[in-house]
Amino acid sequence: MNAPNKPGTDGVREDRGAGLGRVTLLNIDCMKYMREQPTGAFDLAIVDPPYGINAANMSMGNNPNRADGWHREESTAVKARKGRLNQGSGKLKNRALNTMRCDWDFYPPTADYFTELFRVSKKQIIWGGNYFNLPPSRCVICWDKVQPWENFSQWEMAWTSFDKVAPLFRYSNTGGANAELKIHPTQKPRKLYEWLLNKFATPDMRILDTHLGSGSSAIAAHYFGCEFVGCEIDADYYAAAVARFDHETKQQGLAL
Ligand SMILES: C[S@@+](CC[C@H](N)C(=O)[O-])C[C@H]1O[C@@H](n2cnc3c(N)ncnc32)[C@H](O)[C@@H]1O
Repeated sequence: MNAPNKPGTDGVREDRGAGLGRVTLLNIDCMKYMREQPTGAFDLAIVDPPYGINAANMSMGNNPNRADGWHREESTAVKARKGRLNQGSGKLKNRALNTMRCDWDFYPPTADYFTELFRVSKKQIIWGGNYFNLPPSRCVICWDKVQPWENFSQWEMAWTSFDKVAPLFRYSNTGGANAELKIHPTQKPRKLYEWLLNKFATPDMRILDTHLGSGSSAIAAHYFGCEFVGCEIDADYYAAAVARFDHETKQQGLAL
């Protein structure tokens, strides 16, 4: 990574600089970050908080490491950071989905989270909006996952604060041409964020993702050209997201 990985105040890790362009990645609790931001600091928040449903465990089948919601061995995020990013995505994906910690998904955001989110951002797109107490909206987003298995959710919903028609994005996340390197159990595809940015944002905007996870949103924002801040509380996921960002932006840069 070209950018300096300097520890911020209070031990917060922060990655910003030449390698990340206008993207800033923070290893921080988003509540702490948002409380320090002025009102209206962001034009748009695109967020994906824990739904409180143990989503990773629901979708990954039998996994002894995840049986009680806690990982018992080195997480795949750590393994990814140690150099697996360059291996075939299938191998990494299988390992990722079977060893990652997912205890965070038991705890949905509190009312304070939404108060702060609506204070610091002017517009919002909130994945999992069907799980949260949000006002009625004309513009909810349907992501059709083109799911081949009937017993898995066929689509996901995002609530938005936009007054637009409700759009549909159809994109498979299960493999083949759409296979992406998987470093996180609830990773959303980068293409989904690219579509969101093209539809709801402009490159002059300042965008916040309070729950960065795998960093798909950050990579999409980097290529879109907007200013972007992503917060991730988990040090291992954070390190894996930074490594993925570095890997995917460098790789594409070389391909151009
Ligand atoms: C649903 S996942 C986000 C997945 C992401 N959209 C992606 O495409 O990879 C939620 C993430 O939020 C992180 N998280 C949970 N509580 C947080 C908090 N208070 N501040 C920042 N990140 C948090 C978890 O560690 C997890 O990685």
